[in-house]
Amino acid sequence: MEQKTVVLGVTGCIAAYKSCAIVREFQRAGYRVKVVMTEHATHFVDPTTFRALTHEKVAIGLFDDPSDPIHHISLAEEADLFLIAPCTANVMAKIAHGIADDLLSTAALATTAPLALAPAMNVHMYEAQATQANMALLRSRGVHFIEPDSGYLACGYVGPGRMPEPADVVAFAIGILEGKKDLAGRKVMITAGPTRERIDPVRYISNDSSGKMGFALAEAARDRGAEVTLVSGPVALENPAGVRVLKIESARELLEACREPFAESDAAIFAAAVADKRPERIADAKLKKGRDDDMLENIKLVDNPDVLATLASVKGSRVVVGFAAETNDVLDNARRKLEKKGADFIVANEVGHGKAFGTPDNEVWFVSADGEEHVPAASKRQISDAILDQVVKRLSQR
Ligand code: PMT
Repeated sequence: MEQKTVVLGVTGCIAAYKSCAIVREFQRAGYRVKVVMTEHATHFVDPTTFRALTHEKVAIGLFDDPSDPIHHISLAEEADLFLIAPCTANVMAKIAHGIADDLLSTAALATTAPLALAPAMNVHMYEAQATQANMALLRSRGVHFIEPDSGYLACGYVGPGRMPEPADVVAFAIGILEGKKDLAGRKVMITAGPTRERIDPVRYISNDSSGKMGFALAEAARDRGAEVTLVSGPVALENPAGVRVLKIESARELLEACREPFAESDAAIFAAAVADKRPERIADAKLKKGRDDDMLENIKLVDNPDVLATLASVKGSRVVVGFAAETNDVLDNARRKLEKKGADFIVANEVGHGKAFGTPDNEVWFVSADGEEHVPAASKRQISDAILDQVVKRLSQR
């Protein structure tokens, strides 16, 4: 079989030292690696190190190799995967906006191979609106992201921004290279985000769900070949490319929007954070302090439909996955939900105090009739793949 080539871009970041181990991991897995460095990256790792590791020339400047007059194009064409690890905020911004002012950004713009970025930077730079907007834009174009880990950063801050360990970066990249398509021909429905239950035209009851978990599931299922319908509450995320997205606001709208994709699905995953109750009455006009105190102080709540339980009651041969978001007694509550909701298994996660809601990563337990399985903290994308592994296993047993 022909050996595949990974073009590894290395940018100016302390995590560049990990790129040496990334080269080794790829080689161990049988891939050829060609390294392209930005000029800044050479301040962190000497190009000689990569030359010795890869036995290949290390590309840095646009005009460095007189034997190859259009070096950026030949590099772009050689790649089966173009991976930039670590990727600084600056290089990500350039790629998002088509700026090609050095060899790495020019080759990244010219490549038609899948592009994967492993962002690594200071937590505030990572969370900056500009960086997040660039990531959302690139994601919507199908660029793959290896989410940074949270932890102690070289700058002294603690938070997301650290490049994952080389083995994890390479495992993710190989998943893209080898295109695990174990959901090809399958239809998957996923719910995501919060619901909003209106009180009046300007107020509502809702929760802190950002939609990240459900969106990561949708992207992972898409990448594994599924036809995906994502039914989402109001979130600030870009719609994933290649996924049908239905937008809803309330729990009742969620149920109605799910009926058709659920009926057609092979598997359905309910990651949305759905309000259990809603105000009995929605006021036509804004309720006013003084005038409407009685209505504001005595909002009567009534039960919402349980979307998961309602649809799971007619699940047939579908694989149905529910979530359980718990602040305490996570496993006991998840076992109760497994029974009550009629899902094949429940993905239990601890929420509150900065956990799960809105975070880039999650720690979960799979709770099923067979027992419990712990999935240690990982990016929501990695958790999604672990969930889909379970779905695929169950589908193959049907
Ligand atoms: O969106 P993020 O910021 O990434 O956060 C992810 C998450 C914490 C929202 C996600 O991981 C999660 O736990 N989702 C489920 C949240 C929830 O509503 O949990 P629950 O324990 O209240 O509900 C149990 C299950 O029943 C869930 O699958 C839920 O979708 C479903 N449900 C609940 C109530 C209802 N009326 N209808 C439902 O379908």
